[in-house]
Amino acid sequence: ESYDMGGHDTYMHKEISEQADAVDRVLRGRIDDRFATVHLGGLNLDAREARGVRRIKILGCGTSYHAGQIGAQLIEELARIPADAEPASEFRYRNPVVDPDTLYVAVSQSGETYDVLAAVQELKRKGARVLGVVNVVGSAIAREADGGTYVHAGPEVCVVSTKCFTNTVVAFALLALHLGRIRDLSVADGKRIIDGLRRLPAQISEILANEDEIKKMAAEYADAKSMMFIGRVRGFPVAREAALKLKEVSYIHAEAYPASELKHGPLALIEPAMPTVAIVPDDDLLEKNRAALEEIKARSGRILAVAHQVQEKADHTIVVPKNENELDPILMGIPLQLFAYHTALAMGRDIDKPRNLAKSVTVE
Ligand code: AGP
Repeated sequence: ESYDMGGHDTYMHKEISEQADAVDRVLRGRIDDRFATVHLGGLNLDAREARGVRRIKILGCGTSYHAGQIGAQLIEELARIPADAEPASEFRYRNPVVDPDTLYVAVSQSGETYDVLAAVQELKRKGARVLGVVNVVGSAIAREADGGTYVHAGPEVCVVSTKCFTNTVVAFALLALHLGRIRDLSVADGKRIIDGLRRLPAQISEILANEDEIKKMAAEYADAKSMMFIGRVRGFPVAREAALKLKEVSYIHAEAYPASELKHGPLALIEPAMPTVAIVPDDDLLEKNRAALEEIKARSGRILAVAHQVQEKADHTIVVPKNENELDPILMGIPLQLFAYHTALAMGRDIDKPRNLAKSVTVE
């Protein structure tokens, strides 16, 4: 993709619309069907070294941190390596224990975010191995890392990150698959994930074709002063990212919470003026998520569900195509990018340059 607007009024809309092609690009040339494996040429991590990794720590800021949270779940699920994500901005200030058996992964669209770069430099100084999952080729973090992979999202101009989030999560799925196949992921499961990854571009196009309906839903909720976003396990980082999108571009207050934590406090906020966006995938946690919708409905809360089938307790459902359970988070956030976009557009916001924000934060 180029910087040309291609008929779109904003870069945000253009970049959301480019996601099927962008995902196609990050997958291209990297899958080996014979062995259900993945080639990530720049990792600089051979099979023996990969087997020696005891833990993975992912570091990023904002949207990249949220992509890293999904990445950590994918690594745990597919490679069975304990993994977690932390904001790089927190990590670098807490004198973390740097363990030689831990593989560190720095995530960044720009590759120039100072907090991430400073965390990488501190880790390198302490002898840690750091990989980069970065969009901008040749950027500072890409150069500083010991190896890594580019996410090939193409240029992202809008301050609000959309296509790079999606491509970063797909890049993590490739990394998780690669590590999984070196460790205990079976050929059959490898093939299942590869088939799922290949279905993504067409499914993204299907979601984007639903834009008119999503726009109508944005109009239904545009009166809200504040919104709750909930998800459970795989759905929680999706909820966090969707809440961040809405906040950044519309300036509506949005709070993301694990659905499981509602009853421990935030349920007190639920009333008709506080709508909830709920991530409800058709997986082993479906009934638990439905119970959360019931709790909200019982307090007269309005609900917009993003789900694989219409949710009876929800006032509205955006139905998205089903993929493999592990890959569903990649698709479930996409309609909520459009939701944030149309909400902000209806409110007359400066879509590509929200107030107080910069595309990359290169200072402390
Ligand atoms: C994304 O919508 C944000 N504007 C912001 O959170 C961003 O993701 C963050 O500043 C990190 O940027 P990076 O990916 O370029 O490192």
